[in-house]
Amino acid sequence: MKRMGSKQVLVPTVSCLLLLFCLGCKCLALELEATQTATLKVDASSQLARKIPDTLFGMFFEEINHAGAGGIWAELVSNRGFEAGGLHTPSNIDPWSIIGNDSSIFVATDRTSCFSRNIIALRMEVLCDECPAGVGIYNPGFWGMNIEDGKTYNLVMYVKSAEAADLTVSLASSDGLQKLASVTVPVAGTSNWTKVEQKLIAKGTNRTSRLEITSNKKGVVWFDQVSLMPSDTFKGHGFRTELISMLLDLKPRFLRFPGGCFVEGEWLRNAFRWRESIGPWEERPGHFGDVWHYWTDDGLGYYEFLQLSEDLGAAPIWVFNNGISHNDEVSTAAIAPFVKDVLDSLEFARGSANSTWGSVRAAMGHPEPFPVKYVAIGNEDCGKKYYLGNYLKFYNAIRESYPDIQMISNCDGSSKPLDHPADLYDFHVYTDSKTLFNMKGTFDKTSRTGPKAFVSEYAVWRTDAGRGSLLGSLAEAAFLTGLEKNSDIVQMASYAPLFVNDNDQTWNPDAIVFNSWQQYGTPSYWMQKFFRESSGAMIHPITISSSYSGSLAASAITWQDSGNSFLKVKIVNFGSDTVSLTISVSGLQASINALGSNATVLTSSNVKDENSFSNPNKVVPVTSQLRNAAEQMQVTLAAHSFSSFDLALAQSELVAEM
Ligand code: AHR
Repeated sequence: MKRMGSKQVLVPTVSCLLLLFCLGCKCLALELEATQTATLKVDASSQLARKIPDTLFGMFFEEINHAGAGGIWAELVSNRGFEAGGLHTPSNIDPWSIIGNDSSIFVATDRTSCFSRNIIALRMEVLCDECPAGVGIYNPGFWGMNIEDGKTYNLVMYVKSAEAADLTVSLASSDGLQKLASVTVPVAGTSNWTKVEQKLIAKGTNRTSRLEITSNKKGVVWFDQVSLMPSDTFKGHGFRTELISMLLDLKPRFLRFPGGCFVEGEWLRNAFRWRESIGPWEERPGHFGDVWHYWTDDGLGYYEFLQLSEDLGAAPIWVFNNGISHNDEVSTAAIAPFVKDVLDSLEFARGSANSTWGSVRAAMGHPEPFPVKYVAIGNEDCGKKYYLGNYLKFYNAIRESYPDIQMISNCDGSSKPLDHPADLYDFHVYTDSKTLFNMKGTFDKTSRTGPKAFVSEYAVWRTDAGRGSLLGSLAEAAFLTGLEKNSDIVQMASYAPLFVNDNDQTWNPDAIVFNSWQQYGTPSYWMQKFFRESSGAMIHPITISSSYSGSLAASAITWQDSGNSFLKVKIVNFGSDTVSLTISVSGLQASINALGSNATVLTSSNVKDENSFSNPNKVVPVTSQLRNAAEQMQVTLAAHSFSSFDLALAQSELVAEM
């Protein structure tokens, strides 16, 4: 455990002042050693305990920063259907490129695909006969494909060639020199498209590989829908396993998806459309997300988001476009088709396998309905010209068809009542660390009646956030203790954004940073782990007495899991002094066992410290045994730290209490 209990100075203020006078600048170092004192009283009696909603802490997944395409969606080929350049032909085929030169190969898109919803295909004309090294095309994926020794990769592609040809499909290093896998794919001469399926087993590891398709025979071959998936994805559902493990570790209770601004679009024509993102992957047109400026093939579509929620054990929260983007709006008079579209999306998720849209879901492999119980009507659109009118159309139609679905308004109801019906209202906050720390009381004065709050986006950002600093995470932790305390009216909360592919950071900071083969949690990720037992737990009143209380934020819960019960006291020390803290627990009907009690601390030597690929564990929680765990106990809080004291409770007595 880092720094806990070191150098306690009992009369800090006086000693520091004297040293300041005598030694000038040397005082700074000693000032950091000054110790404050505080007492934290927990009243754990059952009369004052309140159950925290089962849904309090979850996740917000947005297709931002290549979180999905080139992120949790394991597809290795980018622009697999050649649609990213648009419907004009010839179009840009980025990131595909040629192997060979102008005299040996000519490629261009045309509209000859066998898929009517994504009509663009690639025509490749090999100009050389007996081309010595083979010429063709390659796809580098999303900043390189992570190809690992011994692993299997499933290639699917559609090809057409008037004359028989032998194609060579390879996984190769980014310069093409190292071949990790190579197979020959014979293509029959026919005027029809053929689906090719081939397994490639890697004989070597290269983190920035590319997929190559070459030929050495003069002729023309068309390609479309070229996909390369690793065979080992999470539950075989197409998700990158190691990134999903990081999500599971936080025990998310809900998953809000697929955005954010991604749902709105800069323009409505570029907004996420669920209908275009379902069905066989080969037939999805894909779309350009114009807010975050990248193309997605929509392999991670509406169905996959529902599947992801199920795989995480999280309640799905479907944020749909309400006919409003950043720059254009559908008037309320014309919104009816959009309302029908959303009702269809709900039938897709919840309808029986015999219903029109439920049958499409069943055909995709999920006959049982997905339990969509929450929808958000738009994102950050409150106050826009047609928001209220459109909102009411969606609200009334959904209420009539799905009375149990809880609807989330974009308008903030934390300081004044909403002027429209809603089950929840959305609350977003991105601010500096001091402000967020001080916002821990935000909901203290909110009316206890009316719609509940959904804090669906919160984070410290800009100057003091770095690329995800300890400082930011401490302020966020303090804010969350305030949400726990106000969880009679705050029903859900999620950090934003969740993911960033290090090669395309459009939003900073983020909780999980990854590239094609590595990942790490920022301190804001680790901070959330301290709250993973909170949803559904009992919260208890606490009081802090200290002249330093302005720098402290705390909460106390009791929770149980597979036979173990704990009183968990979490406390943020936002200040630069260490604190000698007395924890005093009353009202517990169970006794505290030192055996099985732990302290976990998130801190670092510098409050601006961050994690990185080269040092992913610089700021991570460190757990140690709490040998002095008892109803009255003394602990030390490091400067700039977030601590959790998990006190093991004698189980039989606790069951009676809860
Ligand atoms: O989380 C990033 C963005 O912040 C979201 O897309 C949007 O809802 C908010 O403005």
